[in-house]
Amino acid sequence: MDETNLLSTSSSSSILGWIAEHGSWVFGIQSVLGTAALFLYSRYLMKQKRFSFFYLIFGGIHSLMANGYYNLFGDFPFFSVPIHMYFNSALFLHLFVLTHWKKLKPWWYLASVAFPGYWYLALAFIGSMSVIPYSIATRWVLPLFVNNVNLPLLDAGFNGLVLAISLHALYISVVGPKFGKELVHIDLRKETIDKSSQEDTVIEIDHHDKPLHTDESRVLRIFQITDPHLGTCMSKEKLKSLCQNIVDNRDNIDLVLITGDMETMDTHDDDHSLSEALSPLKQLKGRTIACLGNHDYEVLERVREAYRQNDIILLEDDQAIVEVERLSKIKGEKSLVQVVGSQFSFAGHDSSTRHIQELSKKFPKLSQDIPKLFLIHNPSILSSMSMKDDTDIVFAGHLHGGHIGTRFRRLTFVKVLFKALRLFGSKKIFKVHPPDQGLYGRGSLRLYAHRGTGHYGFPLRIGVSSEYSLLNLYF
Ligand SMILES: [Fe+2]
Repeated sequence: MDETNLLSTSSSSSILGWIAEHGSWVFGIQSVLGTAALFLYSRYLMKQKRFSFFYLIFGGIHSLMANGYYNLFGDFPFFSVPIHMYFNSALFLHLFVLTHWKKLKPWWYLASVAFPGYWYLALAFIGSMSVIPYSIATRWVLPLFVNNVNLPLLDAGFNGLVLAISLHALYISVVGPKFGKELVHIDLRKETIDKSSQEDTVIEIDHHDKPLHTDESRVLRIFQITDPHLGTCMSKEKLKSLCQNIVDNRDNIDLVLITGDMETMDTHDDDHSLSEALSPLKQLKGRTIACLGNHDYEVLERVREAYRQNDIILLEDDQAIVEVERLSKIKGEKSLVQVVGSQFSFAGHDSSTRHIQELSKKFPKLSQDIPKLFLIHNPSILSSMSMKDDTDIVFAGHLHGGHIGTRFRRLTFVKVLFKALRLFGSKKIFKVHPPDQGLYGRGSLRLYAHRGTGHYGFPLRIGVSSEYSLLNLYF
């Protein structure tokens, strides 16, 4: 090695050594600079006021969490400080890139910037959320009962668990469940519904895992797509292959229902990806029906065009009456389904209550023999519907299954948050947690909240996977 190389090697290793020695400070400064640069850039150079404040809050919370995790813990686990700085800067870089490059990204970018950054966000979130209770338990409580607590061993175990959960979050955020493996059987039989509670309260109802009867003529089979959010965690190829799977299973699916939120910031300038991803559904002309989600309004014309090109019926405060060919064949007469689709609506306002009630009244149930389905993105709207509504079942998405929690007893982050808000906030507003996954009832109304085909952006799905289930409605 010549003298120049020796000099540069030793100076770079001394810089890395200095960074390692002053790890917390350097990492903290990087976080503050990253957040400030992102805010100032988007606010004053890009003139994107709304996004700049979003970035400030987003970057600020991430920085607090990442720095809180390591400072409270007193260590940067697993990697040296420069590697932590790489992951941290990958997140800021990705957010910066998102202000300019609003098309689906190539694999090399996803692998080197987007996923490392998003994974690091998840790691900091999980670490910071658990480090305080962990520290109290091991530093204060455990020593009361155990002499000579082996803290280094416990700390290694804690960090290992945080790492494992963050990798699990990344995995289930990127890899969808097996198509159609989950079967959901929903009881909409008049005799069952009539016996159920008529109280004006939203309740959780268990769906069934097994068929309720064998009469093929009284079951409607549905595949729901909601919140695919084309972007970092949902590639065009992945959504297209899901649509192809639906077409390949057309003998087991009568209707495809789409309940909104097709894109993300990653695709705002991407004119063709959505249409291409949905293209297999063109083969199911007249069997695919959609409504709009809140994010669809950001690229409204494009979403409309993608549906038009693929013969998908988009309902914007409208209804469609479609024939179910399989049932017509079995019954020997035309068998219809009525589907009403609403614009996106926030819940809890007089205007949204009026809107939803008037829309449903405008399209009354055609007859007792024709199921009336209602598509709306936001499941919280269930509380705003009239108790006399004649809809058989509402399909919604929006909350992505609650993102964090367990499917057992539907114990989700959203549910816990609402329970907490009820303690301090208005009991009226936070009367029930929004229906975030599974079947719900209110009087004779039923609503199915789908866990989402994908989710928006970063991998913070923990314990709650996305959903590719086959839904069977029994009448
Ligand atoms: Fe969504």
